[in-house]
Amino acid sequence: MKKTILTLVAALLVGASMQATAAGGADLRLAPAPVHRLDAESLQRGARNFVNYCLNCHSAQYMRYERLQDIGLTEQQIKDNLMFGADKLGATMTVAMTPAEGVKWFGVAPPDLSVISRVRGVDWLYNYMLGFYADSKSATGWNNLVFPSVAMPHVLWELSGPNRLVEQEFDDHGKAAAAAIAIKGLARVAPAPGGKWIVQQVAADPDAPGTMQSVEYRTFAADLVNFLDFVGEPTKNKRISIGIVVLMYLVVLFALVYALKRLYWKDVPH
Ligand code: HEC
Repeated sequence: MKKTILTLVAALLVGASMQATAAGGADLRLAPAPVHRLDAESLQRGARNFVNYCLNCHSAQYMRYERLQDIGLTEQQIKDNLMFGADKLGATMTVAMTPAEGVKWFGVAPPDLSVISRVRGVDWLYNYMLGFYADSKSATGWNNLVFPSVAMPHVLWELSGPNRLVEQEFDDHGKAAAAAIAIKGLARVAPAPGGKWIVQQVAADPDAPGTMQSVEYRTFAADLVNFLDFVGEPTKNKRISIGIVVLMYLVVLFALVYALKRLYWKDVPH
């Protein structure tokens, strides 16, 4: 029995990691996003991060402020900490910038982020937040390993530090792919001139550290992505909670039925 369970768990784990590789595509390896949808504190920190650092450019127009009570905030906390301006609690998370202004300033209007977690998935979003690096060749001075030539500047650079791109060259694809796997995080394998391959990764610039330690910044990004996932599907938390209750019910039921079976068959000679 124990062996069967272990085999099942192993099969599930292998399945999960294969999915992650497939989502990253052949040349982009994404670190799995350490997000926990039932972690209310993480969701609350994510809401704060979103309001402070993203809501000046991006709206979340399907999200009402009052809905933030679902992640354990009180009306007063929402009003005091997350709502700037004279919005009503029933208002949605809109932004003052018009799309035309967005185009004028950035070349592309910052998209609404209400359902971005469903479009991109949490792993992509998490790595996007880790993927920014300083690039003197780009118009904004920034670039992103996950979204090359992105029009969004690295708005969190003071926290993470500006970061830089580190490239390593290999003679063949196999060696490059192995090196990318060894990085155990965000990495990109790209063809280079002369049949060579390069492995790219984003690394801290030792001369320009951010105000946060790297692990602190990763938590910051994970909280933000957790919140974006909540925004994209607010009722998922309820579904997960109901699912857990149903599973517990089934476990108890199984124990009772099994006990009953043993009782019935006790006196029957095998
Ligand atoms: C200064 C304005 C600005 C701020 C602040 C900003 N962004 Fe952006 N963002 C943009 C622009 C412009 C784009 C469009 C980039 C493009 O398409 O090249 C963008 C694109 C994105 C995308 C990619 C959407 C897609 O096409 O899939 C995501 C995700 C995103 N932003 C998340 C965030 C998050 C999270 C924050 C807060 C930490 C944030 N942004 C803060 C301007 C901004």
